[in-house]
Amino acid sequence: MLYRLVRPFLKWPGSKYRIVNEIRARLPHGKRLVEPFVGSGAVFLNTDYPACWLNDNNADLVNLYRTLKAEGEDFIQYCRSFFVPENNTAERYYELRETFNETKDVALKSALLVYLNRYGYNGLVRYNAQGGYNVPFGQYKRPYFPEAEMRHFYHRSQDAEFTVGDFTEVMSAAKPGDVFYCDPPYVPLSPTASFTTYSAGGFSMEQQAELARLAAELAGRGIPVLISNHDTDFTNSAYRMAQITRLQVQRFISCDGDNRGKVGEVLALFEGARS
Ligand SMILES: C[S@@+](CC[C@H](N)C(=O)[O-])C[C@H]1O[C@@H](n2cnc3c(N)ncnc32)[C@H](O)[C@@H]1O
Repeated sequence: MLYRLVRPFLKWPGSKYRIVNEIRARLPHGKRLVEPFVGSGAVFLNTDYPACWLNDNNADLVNLYRTLKAEGEDFIQYCRSFFVPENNTAERYYELRETFNETKDVALKSALLVYLNRYGYNGLVRYNAQGGYNVPFGQYKRPYFPEAEMRHFYHRSQDAEFTVGDFTEVMSAAKPGDVFYCDPPYVPLSPTASFTTYSAGGFSMEQQAELARLAAELAGRGIPVLISNHDTDFTNSAYRMAQITRLQVQRFISCDGDNRGKVGEVLALFEGARS
């Protein structure tokens, strides 16, 4: 089906917005889309499965989605109230970041995540070892308030269930009729290139290998799994049981300004048993 692409309302490291057409062309039909690593939701927003199960281990992100799903327009206008010129100074940004890190008020914390995402530096999402959000002030002239994008997310989320958890819990609860799209933190391109810290705690090579093992297991039960990742020796070996598509993707978010060129990515479809 052809329709205009919908942008996620959050800027998110590793967002698949730019390759969503390639991804949905390879996703089989099914009753429910399951995303164990939902991030900004670029894929669920641009597909039309009758139901979706969207998971991430970042509780702040999932609480934001649940709040938006439940409160809709009232919450969108609450988020808008933070997008004012008085809040676009370094001093105010760091005050609001501290409020975000201390508050137990879920609606306030969720609205502040939208604010921090647009007023913070370069679309980064980064936490320190204690779990405190620590992205510096971005110094943008007039940050964009993603009102239309939030409304779209709200409408699309009415058929979705959101959970906070580890990908292994989600994969072990798979049911016939599910289609999985797994977009884990990237394996590093080189041993020193590991910059993807989405929430306290990284994502190890053992977890990458476990994801590939679980994908093959689900495929063996007739549940298709599409995984995206960097194109490396490791992923080529880990995904050898899958049908592989290779892509060249423009990279914008990097802590290394020299590394902004094109990067090889793979889409690996685990589907049924292959001999
Ligand atoms: C590459 S991003 C997903 C991007 C998403 N496809 C998009 O288009 O925005 C990976 C996500 O996995 C989440 N994550 C990291 N480790 C996880 C784990 N062990 N279980 C579940 N989610 C995890 C991160 O919080 C992050 O949102």
